[in-house]
Parts: sequence; structure tokens; C-alpha cells
Amino acid sequence: MRVQKDVSLKAYNTFGVTVRTPLFAEVKTSLELQAVLKDMRFNDAFILGGGSNVLFLDQLSKPVIKVSISGIRVIEEDDHIAIVSVGAGVVWHDLVMWCVANNLGGIENLSLIPGLVGAAPIQNIGAYGVELRDVFHNAIGIGRLDGASKIFTAQDCAFGYRDSVFKNELKDRYVITTIRLALTKKNHELHLAYGALQDTLAQQKVEQPTIADVARAVTRIRRSKLPDPEKLGNAGSFFKNPIVKTKKLQNLMLEYPEMPSYTIDENFSKIPAGWLIEQAGFKGKISGKVGMHAKQALVLVNHGGASGKELWSHAQEVMKQVHSAFGIELEPEVNLIN
Ligand code: FAD
Ligand code: EPU
Repeated sequence: MRVQKDVSLKAYNTFGVTVRTPLFAEVKTSLELQAVLKDMRFNDAFILGGGSNVLFLDQLSKPVIKVSISGIRVIEEDDHIAIVSVGAGVVWHDLVMWCVANNLGGIENLSLIPGLVGAAPIQNIGAYGVELRDVFHNAIGIGRLDGASKIFTAQDCAFGYRDSVFKNELKDRYVITTIRLALTKKNHELHLAYGALQDTLAQQKVEQPTIADVARAVTRIRRSKLPDPEKLGNAGSFFKNPIVKTKKLQNLMLEYPEMPSYTIDENFSKIPAGWLIEQAGFKGKISGKVGMHAKQALVLVNHGGASGKELWSHAQEVMKQVHSAFGIELEPEVNLIN
């Protein structure tokens, strides 16, 4: 394991914000992780994956532990299901491509989500009608205080919309080293309810889609509207889509009959934050070095050289204007790091 001093994190966060950490360790095995967790200098370390869901607000006074544990293998299987065990440092999209190549179904709708496998349970990643929890078997985490390893079942993880126990009661308590997914070997259950997915498959004249077709279609849709962090710094959706009481939605719809929404249950509905932000006039508008993306208003973008504070200040302005127009509080999805 290599411990480095005074390291720039610019290449380690997809916003491309320039900050430095006093101490940086990259761990490639669970044993290396356990060793670094015992090192007092790393007591309050920030755990980093691919840096695609973080906004560094300022220079980091904390050390950083980057988790680069590799490996993908099938550890159990029957005629229908394979349990695949994956190291936390595997690139998520590489895992999706490996599953598609090996005809294992379940995560094809999650193609092209940036970042590493270890972060996937933290916010229960989701896209195009599938969330991690739908295929989750369990995960191994190492306790930051005692270095002991613990298995987390789906129930232990308390997954919700962009949420899990690791963002709440167990925040900063465990480092995920491995996740296990239960994937189908045949008779894959495809999730095609999203209109954009159906339209893309129809355009491609695919009548009986395979998991590879779904992965290709999702990739195409994502490339058409989400900015590539290599070219334009961003962390995907900056805010969560707000969940409001149905009564509030009904009142808003008297004023904005065209407002899109999705029913969650009889009491709650979700409103796309991108629509609220677009209505508030921020879509594609550049303010200094930052702005909300021209093709997807929910994506906060670094147009070059912005600091974490500049990005956060713009996000706060968006929150303020959306609140004053619609009475809705937007909540950041991205993790704000001090
Ligand atoms: P990081 O940003 O490095 O870390 C995120 C959080 O997880 C931090 O709090 C970190 O401390 C913690 N963490 C990381 N690794 C571990 C570990 N091993 N153990 C414990 N804690 C850990 N997300 C979606 O859900 N759906 C999408 O469709 C989606 N689209 C995106 C599109 C773009 C263009 C971008 C840039 C981001 C998108 N995201 C999306 C957000 C992001 O890709 C996911 O949240 C991803 O899981 C983050 O992975 P990461 O390795 O980059 O995590
Ligand atoms: N919309 C607008 N203007 C915009 C953007 C969106 O009006 O500029 C409205 C439209 O009505 C559109 C609707 O919002 O139909 C939904 O937009 P989209 O399909 O792009 O999805 P989203 O709700 O903005 C969510 C996730 C994404 C995920 C996609 C696909 C959240 C916070 N975001 O975005 O996840 O990829 O659905 O499932 O739930 C991420 O978490 O980083 C992320 C990119």
C-alpha cells in the first residue's frame, strides 16, 4: 500500500474541482484496508470511490482512503440464478458489461452509471426503472472502528430512493469491500416501462430485446442528454426528485396543469426536479463558471475552473428560486464534503 502526502484530488472527482488532501492511501485488498484503518492518521479519513457523487466544498483537511479492491466472480449458482461477488474497486459499468457478456441479467438498465461498485449500495443507485436493491444479495463492510468484517443483507441496508443505512444510522461507520448480486441466467425479466427506453428500442427496430439490447439503448439515451464528465465536470443529478404529498401536487397542478409527476402511492408523488429547475429559468444558463446543463436541467455543471464553493453557491440559488416559485425544498443527491 502506498501512502502519499499532499495529493491533488482534481483527477479523483468528476466535478474536476481542484482540492488537495494532506494524506492519500490507495488500498487494493481488505487486509490493506484493515491496516490503514488501524493507522491513527487515517481515523477521520474520507472514503473515496470514483468521485462521481461528491462535491468537495473546500481544501480537505482529512486524509483520503481510495478503495481499489478488484475481482468479479460467480460464487454460487443454480439453474436460474448466479450470485456474483464483486470487489468494491471494480468500475460499475465494467461490471454491467461483464454481466451482459456472460448473459447474466438484472443490471443492464444501470449501464453507464459512473463510479465504482463499492459506492453502489451507499445511495442504492438507480436508473430506467431498476435500482441496486432489485438484484442485491448482500455486501461485506469493514467496521472503521474495530476493523471487523460484517455482512449486510438487503434488509440491513434499509434501501430507499437514493438512500440507505450507510447515509443515515451507519454513516461513516463501514467501508464496503465486496457486494454480491443475484442475477438471472435465463428467462431474464426485462424492465422496459420507461418511455424513452421503449422509443429507443423501437427506433433501433428491436422487437424482442435481449439484455444486450437494453444495455445499448440505455447507453444511447444517457449519452444523448448527460454530459461526459471527461469533457464537462458534473456529478449527474445534483438534486433528488422531490417527493410531495398528493394534496400539494393537486394544488400545484391547478396553477401548473402541465407539471409532470409520478405517483408513488395514494399519499405521495414524485416531481421531476429537472422540470422545476427548467421552469425557474436555470436550464442552460451559465452563471460565471457554473450552470445547469442545457440538455438536462438537473445536472450542475463546472464550465471550467469553478471551485466547490462556486458550484454549491449556484446550487443554493437554484434551491432558493425553486422554493420561492413552487414551495418545494430541493435536497442535494450529491454528497457535500468539507
Ligand atoms: P464516490 O463519489 O467516490 O462516493 C460517493 C459516496 O459513497 C461518498 O460518500 C463516499 O464516501 C461513499 N463511498 C464510496 N465508496 C465507498 C465504499 N467502498 N465504502 C463505503 N463508502 C463508500 N447515480 C445513480 O444512482 N443513477 C444514475 O443514473 C447516475 N447517473 C450519473 C451520471 C453522471 C454523468 C454522473 C457523473 C454521476 C451519476 N450518478 C448516478 C451518481 C454516481 O455515479 C453514483 O452515485 C455512483 O454510485 C458513485 O460512485 P463513486 O464510486 O464515484 O462514489
Ligand atoms: N425534465 C425537464 N427538464 C429537464 C430535465 C427533465 O422538464 O431539463 C423533466 C421531463 O418531464 C422529463 C423528466 O423531468 O420527462 C424526467 O427526466 P429524466 O428522464 O432525464 O430523469 P430525471 O428524473 O431527471 C432520474 C435520475 C437519474 C436517472 C434517470 C433515469 C434522480 C435524481 N435522477 O433523472 O439519475 O439516470 O432518472 O432513470 O432520480 C443521478 O442520480 O445522478 C442520475 C443521473
